[in-house]
Amino acid sequence: MTDTNPTSGSASSPSLENLLHETRSFPPSEEFAAQANAKADLYEKASADRLGFWAEQARELVTWNKPFTETLDWSGAPVARWFADGTLNAAYNAVDRHVEAGHGDRVAIHFEGEPGDTRTVTYADLQQEVSRAANALTALGVRTGDRVVIYLPMLVESVVAMLACARIGAPHSVVFGGFSADALRSRIADAEATLVVTADGGYRRGAPSALKPAVDEALAPKEGAPATSVQKVLVVRRTEQDVDWVEGRDVWWHEALEAADPVHEPVAVEAEHPLFILYTSGTTGKPKGILHTTGGYITQAAYTHKNVFDLKPETDVYWCTADVGWVTGHSYVVYGPLVNGATQVLYEGTPDTPHRGRWWELIEKYKVSILYTAPTAIRTCMKWGDDIPGGFDLSSLRVLGSVGEPINPEAWMWYRRVIGGDKTPIVDTWWQTETGAIMISPLPGVTATKPGSAQVAIPGIAATVVDDEAKPVPDGGGGYLVLSEPWPSMLRGIWGDLERYKDTYWSRFDGLYFAGDGAKKDEDGDIWLLGRVDDVMNVSGHRLSTTEIESALVSNEIVAEAAVVGAADETTGQAVVAFVILRGSHANRASTAEGAAEVQKELRDHVGKEIGPIAKPKKILVVPELPKTRSGKIMRRLLRDVAEDRAVGDATTLADSSVMDLITAGLAAPTAASED
Ligand code: PRX
Repeated sequence: MTDTNPTSGSASSPSLENLLHETRSFPPSEEFAAQANAKADLYEKASADRLGFWAEQARELVTWNKPFTETLDWSGAPVARWFADGTLNAAYNAVDRHVEAGHGDRVAIHFEGEPGDTRTVTYADLQQEVSRAANALTALGVRTGDRVVIYLPMLVESVVAMLACARIGAPHSVVFGGFSADALRSRIADAEATLVVTADGGYRRGAPSALKPAVDEALAPKEGAPATSVQKVLVVRRTEQDVDWVEGRDVWWHEALEAADPVHEPVAVEAEHPLFILYTSGTTGKPKGILHTTGGYITQAAYTHKNVFDLKPETDVYWCTADVGWVTGHSYVVYGPLVNGATQVLYEGTPDTPHRGRWWELIEKYKVSILYTAPTAIRTCMKWGDDIPGGFDLSSLRVLGSVGEPINPEAWMWYRRVIGGDKTPIVDTWWQTETGAIMISPLPGVTATKPGSAQVAIPGIAATVVDDEAKPVPDGGGGYLVLSEPWPSMLRGIWGDLERYKDTYWSRFDGLYFAGDGAKKDEDGDIWLLGRVDDVMNVSGHRLSTTEIESALVSNEIVAEAAVVGAADETTGQAVVAFVILRGSHANRASTAEGAAEVQKELRDHVGKEIGPIAKPKKILVVPELPKTRSGKIMRRLLRDVAEDRAVGDATTLADSSVMDLITAGLAAPTAASED
């Protein structure tokens, strides 16, 4: 389990005492409250009849081909079945029914490419394109139930590909474009996908970057690996880069779509039909394929998107900056907003290209009214200075959201003041890939918001903080965040590994879902998230496993042993710091500053190749020993002390207590240089 004690606060989190000391709260304005979607009675309605409440949301927000009669079947716990005898189609709900309701001319997506090219896609356009793509996938042999891997940049085609899969009932598995060929290979193999949708590349930081070569590498025969299950590769042309082509396997997206009929009948699937698999890091080396199904997932995605962001589909312009490769992109770029008929901005590139005001320029240009982003991005913009957003008209903004990691009160206040003009409510939303949709968040117009706290479970959700014995902690106490009732968008398991699902989430506390986060409750009973209490790191809101990066490091021939920790970082929340013991003669290579720098580069590149650039350690420290307990467990707590430049804590449980002296003495030498 863990060597972090949430009752004492985690190293990367601000102390609660300090926070409470300076806590201010921001009640909603009367004007906002009067027109808000969510009213205070939502909490009462949900707690009076929780299942009835969810059934009402499912009927109101989703169109069913066959209405459901049973709301929840929990007899197979911990695998839930929601609305199980109903049938529906997620893509029909996200697209067609808006056209049928007369909103075909409404803009679904304002696309902005990084080089400045734009494309406006109405709901009617989206219906045609998704239908063509569904017909193209079918023509290429994809059947209901087959898995399709999507490995794309942020393009309209990414949304279309996901919806086309949903339309034919083929679960998609989106792999973030920043993952390496090796990471892609293992995800394709685990899902046994039969088709991959990719692009020649995308624009990033002012230049085209390539994607197709990684797919070619991931599908190529490899010694010791089974032959790939993939039959076809659909390739979107975005950058005009030259690509290698495998005849009979590779097909251009634009050619396949041109040849396809723009009319397609969506396949009505059962509510529990798999909608997607999304891989995420866990505490072991192997990423977990988180499985989500259709009816419950889109119900909660739409319900939260409507109430947490106060969406008014006729007038709002919504923008979520997340990539579709992460769960936030699934629930709050694709399914939530589109099921609700929203108009949204989709931006391909980075916030600083070609200048650091690009995001704010887009908000001014499209009159964005709801912005949803991550604390790392907010802290980065804060560092760049108030003048940059100050140069743009941001007065269209009326709701701001934050997700992915704890937001420190300073960043929260800056977000409200500089971006929100001191008037917009901020919703700090806590949830996970596993929960599928938002679970804990203020409701704008209802909640008096507090900088730094996600506050309360949304209506219909039961979250609590418990101690080691699973007893709820009193207000003012700290412990572990758990969810005590099943919820519609909960994961239905780990793809192909039910036991791992039970072990990971349901074995720590009897009958409770253990989220892996430490949390505290303040004197008002509001929840403050304190970061992970397991071996999962959170870097820029991206989840990374210490064990996975350790495995990547030791797969390099020069490494004998490795230990990885997440060290507190001002901008990215946590940063990856690796401690490595080099094999035999290689240890000598690191004895000069130059040699050490070379070793560090080699190892960072190696991790980039094994997992992807996002997993590259910020620092790699070459050490002679690692601190281990008598049972051989690495004491990461002590390494975190070193990585965060603190005095090393209690080392008495080490098998050899002099190890820490050896490590710290060694690190005083020049070999300890960091990447930056
Ligand atoms: O530690 C929590 C943190 O992100 C983890 C989930 O990561 P992932 O599955 O990648 O999903 C991220 C986007 C939903 C959680 O276990 N986390 C997420 N949101 C918050 C957060 N920590 C604090 N405050 C949040 N609002």
